[in-house]
Amino acid sequence: MKIKVSVIGCGGIASAHIARLAILKDDVEFTAFCDVVKEKAEAKANQYGGKVYTDFREMFDKEKFDACFICVPPFAHQGQEELCIEKNIPFFVEKPIHLDLKKARGIAKKVEEKKLLTSVGYVLRNFEIIEKAREIIKNEKIAIVRGKYYGQVPGGEGSWLIKKEFSGGQLIEQATHTVDMMRYFAGDVAEVFAYKFEGINNKIYKGYDVEDASIVVMKFKNGVIGNLTCTWLWNGYHSGVEVVGKGIIINYEGNTLTIDRGNKKEIFVDSIDPMLEEDKRFIEAIKKSKPELIKSSYADALKTLEVTLKSHISMLEGKPVEI
Ligand SMILES: NC(=O)c1ccc[n+]([C@@H]2O[C@H](COP(=O)([O-])OP(=O)(O)OC[C@H]3O[C@@H](n4cnc5c(N)ncnc54)[C@H](O)[C@@H]3O)[C@@H](O)[C@H]2O)c1
Repeated sequence: MKIKVSVIGCGGIASAHIARLAILKDDVEFTAFCDVVKEKAEAKANQYGGKVYTDFREMFDKEKFDACFICVPPFAHQGQEELCIEKNIPFFVEKPIHLDLKKARGIAKKVEEKKLLTSVGYVLRNFEIIEKAREIIKNEKIAIVRGKYYGQVPGGEGSWLIKKEFSGGQLIEQATHTVDMMRYFAGDVAEVFAYKFEGINNKIYKGYDVEDASIVVMKFKNGVIGNLTCTWLWNGYHSGVEVVGKGIIINYEGNTLTIDRGNKKEIFVDSIDPMLEEDKRFIEAIKKSKPELIKSSYADALKTLEVTLKSHISMLEGKPVEI
């Protein structure tokens, strides 16, 4: 049996998922593509087959499908998840899952009530080296977790990413991957305290109204302490997480894991495509009714969202915020 998939939002990340779902052609067929820009949905339908919609509500009314990929920008979560829940359709949603914590909590509650299968695009969790790191961390005395996310201003002028009301800013939109990885390694966060730096990019890019850089200090529920440093002032891309414990430094960057024990250093390089793995797991979880195959559920992603949104509140209020 093939899983019938519909896709909402046919931009950059949707294209990446669609290409991978096409690889899984023995298990997947496309029912419909929806984008507010009709040409984008049409381009996908022409290439992969399926109907074209510009209004997701109409698509839910007219089509029958087994899974939905929600790949819209953060500001555009306008009821897609709620319709999936109402119609019992398992959904994959890209990070960040929302900009409104209250609404995201409401969605999580309904997902839980219906025991609906969900997956969220915290794609790094799908690397094999990440599970290897977690296995090692489990057996070590860990004290510190440090994250970094350095990038260039994405999209430039005119992009939704540089507007707070559309993206939430770098920490909420992009460094959410790093926050999620810090949580995946060190557990749940208890409290955050954040500072922001601004005033450079807004003089270069018209309409830029988010921070240029931020630092978040975190206290984890298990006592581990951590910090995250982010900036959009860099010219390239650099991100990673380092975990420090008694006699060990575990460093993760890109597809590489380094285990440094002072007198011995091991390096592991992952060659898998984590997004193909992520999509495969979601489709298989639906086919076999096995939610345990999924690395990031909506309920879990909600915790990462809360850390980033509350860090943002801390930046504005200048005081620690409990999670
Ligand atoms: N997991 C990852 O590594 C990763 C990488 C890139 C982007 N993303 C996430 O994916 C999401 C989308 O990012 P993107 O880079 O694809 O953006 P994009 O701007 O390239 O594409 C978004 C698409 O959604 C469409 N859209 C907007 N509102 C819509 C609506 N109401 N109904 C239907 N279509 C709508 C737009 O027209 C556009 O085609 C963001 O939340 C982003 O953070 C995740």
